[in-house]
Amino acid sequence: MKPTKISLTRTTPERFSGDLLVYCVPQNKNDKPKSVKGVCGSEFRKAVALGDFKGDDGHRLLAYGQGKNKALVSRVLYLGLGKVHKDSKTELLERCRQTGGKIASIAKELKAKNICLCLPELEELSAEKTVESLLEGILLGDYRFEKYKKKDGKKGKFTGITKIAVWSSMKEKGLRRGINHAQHAANAACVARDMANEPGNGWTPASFARYARMLAKEHSMKCTVLGKIEMKRLKMGGILAVNQGSSEAPKLVILEYTAKNPKAQTVLLVGKGLTFDSGGVSLKPGAGMQDMKYDMCGGAAAICAMAVVGAEKPDVNVVAIIPATDNMPGGAALKPGDIIKHFNGVTSEIINTDAEGRLILADALAYGIKNYSPDCVVDLATLTGAVITSLGHHRTGLLGNNQPLIKRLLAAGESCGEPLWQLPLDKEYVKQIDSDVADIKNTGGSGAGTITAAAYLQKFVGDTPWVHMDIAGTAWGFTKKDYIPKGPSGTGVRTLVAMIRNWKKL
Ligand code: BES
Ligand code: MN
Ligand code: ZN
Repeated sequence: MKPTKISLTRTTPERFSGDLLVYCVPQNKNDKPKSVKGVCGSEFRKAVALGDFKGDDGHRLLAYGQGKNKALVSRVLYLGLGKVHKDSKTELLERCRQTGGKIASIAKELKAKNICLCLPELEELSAEKTVESLLEGILLGDYRFEKYKKKDGKKGKFTGITKIAVWSSMKEKGLRRGINHAQHAANAACVARDMANEPGNGWTPASFARYARMLAKEHSMKCTVLGKIEMKRLKMGGILAVNQGSSEAPKLVILEYTAKNPKAQTVLLVGKGLTFDSGGVSLKPGAGMQDMKYDMCGGAAAICAMAVVGAEKPDVNVVAIIPATDNMPGGAALKPGDIIKHFNGVTSEIINTDAEGRLILADALAYGIKNYSPDCVVDLATLTGAVITSLGHHRTGLLGNNQPLIKRLLAAGESCGEPLWQLPLDKEYVKQIDSDVADIKNTGGSGAGTITAAAYLQKFVGDTPWVHMDIAGTAWGFTKKDYIPKGPSGTGVRTLVAMIRNWKKL
């Protein structure tokens, strides 16, 4: 996907020559649209006077250019933002993102490639946050994945917005920052969606390694890829066990960003990179199994967040580890009843080979903590179907051992439209994974599947502050939003980015 070019323009919107000039129009307390700076066109004023356009949320008025710019611009869109004064900042940010998503879908409808975005001035939101959230919505909403579609060469086929000129009367400094932030985060989320959209035979463990090496080169970070031989030497019994039934080589992909500040803290990200989950010998039912190509969304989120880290160079060290393999039922596959030994020496009785995510994460967590002594760990995984039972497709499940860190993640997710919900992790749940023959077992029996999965992971993090995000319900099929098309959502990327951008000593 070619990135959309975004620039800041100071030339009056009247002079914009392109496909679509967009005004985002907030609504006053009296139900009338606020006056819009830079507005061109008597059509708008007429529509307002007649009461045809009130600026309510999502209301659109399409006009065709007036006066000076009649000959220049094809269409002018006035898009209602609704009332902005009574909402919380979070709600307003979300509204702007949704509005951005609406702009993207209108642009698609109109085949508008070259657009000019006139920013509203919102007292409640800084110029930086206004432009950031609107652009994020546009870029996320303008996503498409057509790599495997026959190029039918249909003339006039819309392939996305190519250029956005942002116009505003506000100060430039914050605007630039907002534009950059939106571009980094939205592009990263779209790349995560691309990875997820790739089928199991298109995105393999080696693909994760390739992408990480590319990022390392681009942003001067350090990339290490462990293969099967190194895993054997390091006794990573979890990832090796899951890979046993496959003919695709496993990889443990490590990407490290080091901040300039020698005193900077270190955040470790671990993402489940299961490139296809058949369930293994405990085979999944056929219906819907194709969706298990999405089982690598946690890994995609972690590595794509590193793209933003590399570009923005925050004042915190960040290490991402992606254990990557598929889960296949080949002749040498792991069997129910088998006992494996993890990297940290903990033994585990395999009850169900379909509970494989925790096996690969366990090694990655223990290895990452031992090698990088992070100040905190965040892991992301499409770990359990049970999280869909508890939270549906609206919130990511969140568990952890450190309430301040949990709070940070909750706030980060809330701020970017990726809401999370904390589940408990009491010792009663931990007991559910006690085994008669090994230290632990890989399923917790009936009830609280998301929690017992987290309890398994907790055995590998020790005292390090840790949170686990179960994104099985949100990585795809996420709540419908204007800026989240159907298919993979890229969830987690922007939450991690928000957490890292606001990092303060934990
Ligand atoms: N990748 C799945 C979890 C999953 C299921 C994600 C449905 C998205 C939608 C995971 O590896 C898995 O199979 N978990 C099992 C665990 C069980 C065997 C204890 C599950 O949730 O059924
Ligand atoms: Mn599974
Ligand atoms: Zn899985």
